[in-house]
Amino acid sequence: MDLKISGRKAIVCASSKGLGKACAKALAKEGVDVWISARGNDALLAAADEITAVGGGRATAVTADVTTEAGRSTLLEACPAPDILINNAGGPPPGDFRDWDQNDWFEAVNGNMYSAIDMIKRCLDGMIERRFGRIVNITSVAVKMPVTTLGLSNGARSGLTGFVSGIAREPAQHNVTINNLLPGYIATDRMWSVLEAGAKQAGLDVQAFQKNMFSKIGAKRPGKPAEFGATCAFLCSQQAAYITAQNVLMDGGLFPGTL
Ligand SMILES: NC(=O)c1ccc[n+]([C@@H]2O[C@H](COP(=O)([O-])OP(=O)(O)OC[C@H]3O[C@@H](n4cnc5c(N)ncnc54)[C@H](OP(=O)(O)O)[C@@H]3O)[C@@H](O)[C@H]2O)c1
Repeated sequence: MDLKISGRKAIVCASSKGLGKACAKALAKEGVDVWISARGNDALLAAADEITAVGGGRATAVTADVTTEAGRSTLLEACPAPDILINNAGGPPPGDFRDWDQNDWFEAVNGNMYSAIDMIKRCLDGMIERRFGRIVNITSVAVKMPVTTLGLSNGARSGLTGFVSGIAREPAQHNVTINNLLPGYIATDRMWSVLEAGAKQAGLDVQAFQKNMFSKIGAKRPGKPAEFGATCAFLCSQQAAYITAQNVLMDGGLFPGTL
């Protein structure tokens, strides 16, 4: 299917690896020029080459920490009028909520809630004026199915979800949509390190722990980053103009509820 977004411009936050990179690659395949970002340079430059080599849109590397005002300004200076915005950032560390202080919470809320809100604030009105915009926030299945040890993530991402729900309907009349994409277990560096930490905490062998986790997924396997990227690209398509304010699960059937 031609997603009808060739020639569009996208900012993809936190995208030298993992889910962000997969989204950037899927958009580039559709002919979208992508501005990718990360704090570290080496993986970022390699990702830009890898994405440009796909032969669709061009990837430009922007070294920027998306959790800072300065980093977000740098990204928007590099791509001042994005048609597509993918919000993403690193996830907060796991732990016991009894150990977290105000600073831990402020960091999590800044990284996984406020940073995305600020990017939306800076991009939305331009998209409305140009009569095209697609915003996808990468959140987590934890919004629907909280993991006890990921309390900082559960809390901050639920805050973003509530905020997005309040603003995502009105822009649809201008062909601007805002959706959240919720990964379950998608095979990235982050997923493997979360599983390793989980096994350690449970005092179990890592492979046995992983096997047990994957057995709870309908698909009985972790998702592929390319599957996640393709869904993100579809949400950014012209065809997806009538999908807004949704929380789209990409979890292979992990979430056991009806809605
Ligand atoms: N993979 C999953 O199964 C899964 C499930 C649920 C939720 N999530 C969430 O989805 C998000 C992405 O996860 P992932 O699996 O793709 O992680 P990943 O494989 O560790 O990749 C994270 C990427 O984000 C960049 N990054 C991190 N912090 C950044 C910052 N402050 N500014 C700019 N770039 C930053 C990293 O580069 P630098 O370190 O160089 O900056 C890297 O490119 C995380 O919030 C994670 O918690 C993932």
